[in-house]
Amino acid sequence: MTHPAASTTQDAHGTRSRDAAHESAAHAPATGPSRRRAVGVAGLTAAGALALSACGSGRDSDAAASPSAPSTPTDVAAAADVPVGSGITVDKGGVKAVVGQPEKGTFTAYSPVCPHQGCMVNPADKQFVCPCHNSVFDMASGDVTGGPATTGLSPYPVKVENGRVIVG
Ligand code: FES
Repeated sequence: MTHPAASTTQDAHGTRSRDAAHESAAHAPATGPSRRRAVGVAGLTAAGALALSACGSGRDSDAAASPSAPSTPTDVAAAADVPVGSGITVDKGGVKAVVGQPEKGTFTAYSPVCPHQGCMVNPADKQFVCPCHNSVFDMASGDVTGGPATTGLSPYPVKVENGRVIVG
């Protein structure tokens, strides 16, 4: 499923490092570099936004503060470095995000901050997982699918241009 030449590593959550994969950037997705997808639908479920009982100690206001989307479109990675069915964590040009490719050619980007208590989520198999209390978020929608978090990840605008992932 991934580039055969890419020697990525994978942790227990299926998260891949892109250290050795960046050379394969010339292998743009088969869907073409001009394809643009901006996915960020329904990241929040308002119904549980005010619930205070998630983990017994209450929802802390500092960690739950929603980060805003990057104000300037920023090239964060080669599209070829984002594994299909998983994703990467980026911290580039002042942009901290998780970028996923739940289906080939469909890219998503979110704030990496877990809405529960502010830990950083990690990409896994078509989802993002928080290591602190195991909240799970759908990679395609950002919606919470498990764990104590009651809201989804904050979506960021994302597109692919010339084989590069642009967030913001
Ligand atoms: S901080 Fe508690 S599940 Fe993420």
